[in-house]
Amino acid sequence: MAWRNSILRVRDQHRRNGFAVCGSFSTAPSTAPSSSSSPADSPPQIPRFDYAPKPYKGPLGDEVLEKRRKFLGPSLFYYYQKPLNIVEGKMQYLFDENGKRYLDAFAGIVTVSCGHCHPEVLNAIVEQSKLLQHATTIYLHHAIADFAEALASKMPGNLKVVYFVNSGSEANELAMLMARLYSGNLEMISLRNAYHGGSSGTIGLTALNTWKYSIPQGEIHHVVNPDPYRGIFGSNASMYAKDVQDHIDYGTSGKVAGFIAETIQGVGGAVELAPGYLKLVYDMVHKAGGLCIADEVQTGFGRTGSQYWGFETQGVIPDIVTMAKGIGNGLPLGAVVTTPEIASVMAQKIQFNTFGGNPVCSAGGHAVLRVLDKEKRQEHCADLGSHLTARFRDLQERYDIIGDVRGRGLMLGIELVTDRKEKTPAKAETAILFEKLRELGVLVGKGGLHGNVFRIKPPMCFNKDDADFLVDAFDYALSKL
Ligand SMILES: Cc1ncc(COP(=O)(O)O)c(C=O)c1O
Repeated sequence: MAWRNSILRVRDQHRRNGFAVCGSFSTAPSTAPSSSSSPADSPPQIPRFDYAPKPYKGPLGDEVLEKRRKFLGPSLFYYYQKPLNIVEGKMQYLFDENGKRYLDAFAGIVTVSCGHCHPEVLNAIVEQSKLLQHATTIYLHHAIADFAEALASKMPGNLKVVYFVNSGSEANELAMLMARLYSGNLEMISLRNAYHGGSSGTIGLTALNTWKYSIPQGEIHHVVNPDPYRGIFGSNASMYAKDVQDHIDYGTSGKVAGFIAETIQGVGGAVELAPGYLKLVYDMVHKAGGLCIADEVQTGFGRTGSQYWGFETQGVIPDIVTMAKGIGNGLPLGAVVTTPEIASVMAQKIQFNTFGGNPVCSAGGHAVLRVLDKEKRQEHCADLGSHLTARFRDLQERYDIIGDVRGRGLMLGIELVTDRKEKTPAKAETAILFEKLRELGVLVGKGGLHGNVFRIKPPMCFNKDDADFLVDAFDYALSKL
């Protein structure tokens, strides 16, 4: 009964927060451990960390929330029944108003790549800010040119021309514009369950109803998602690719502007595309006159471990790559990288972005690239990702509610279902665990259309003790569900 009441409380809270929470709650969750192995009786302890947060003297959460409600838009949502007032961050940890430390396994929505307030990134930002914060590209400044050169050196093939913007949505808007100008066609193809941004144009590319307003979508086709866990064709890439060809053949003039995809869908719940899918689709799209865009906003910069860029896991080289989030470790920064030939279409007019590549963001972004290399973060993501995945798979053997453990490197998804065969989303149980993890000092993300996937995407400085604490906290919370 207590369990059911707590589900109802969470459901009410989520309704108030504007989340779509529906479905029946009459079935008791099948969370009993299915083997004899059992979690510790007492809660796991957060690893030691030699850092004391500054005493916080600012406004408390209730006051901030009240002001937010009064002066900020009602579409904003927050995590947790009692929202967290985060006032300081250091590497993989966050501190609330009371000085309580949390392990950050979500990195400000996959954005803090090197670590919160990483000293080298911070130093680059501060030193540049002291000299010059802004001038725009109407004048010369070495920071933007140096950063573009460093970023281009990370790209394969002829992807050598960089445009800097301020966000992922802007990057995808610009990429879509380029594809349309270059191809002379209008129609774009994106995947169901994709998230590519919240601007008017990118809402059309996004294919999750929770994030879409009812406005004209533009000329967009949303094709069947090559989702190995839930997709109707399992991991059969060619069956999914056939749907793309069908859209081209039956839904367009036979010509398209382009195709865009994340290689692991982030907001969609860490869904990795069926192996080999992009290669097949890129060929089809090229034959139809379109360009292929890889959205690396979440998957880039070594996070997937095995490769620096997500698209490399599919053995393709896109025509355009878009980036944001991790590129700036928290700075408002995005980029579009393409070939000189494709970039040349933009020269028909002036393409201008006031803040894109400003000296401070460029200095910070350049420092991010250096830090990730120096600290060998890609290799680290591969090693730690394998360890985490193995430990979560072990949990999956013990708790029937874990339907799927997936992803790569430090971009993982743990999908909860009340019935493994039917794959019924365990929405309410996910919400309860989410609160419980926060109590234990662990912050994770949630995603997927039904909000039943835990997203584990920590800052890349996350270490093995953190990973073990994270899984132990899951284990403990699951055992109490
Ligand atoms: C894959 C992907 N593309 C684009 C975006 C949009 O980025 P932004 O919020 O910076 O506009 C996001 C944001 O979550 C994303 O996850």
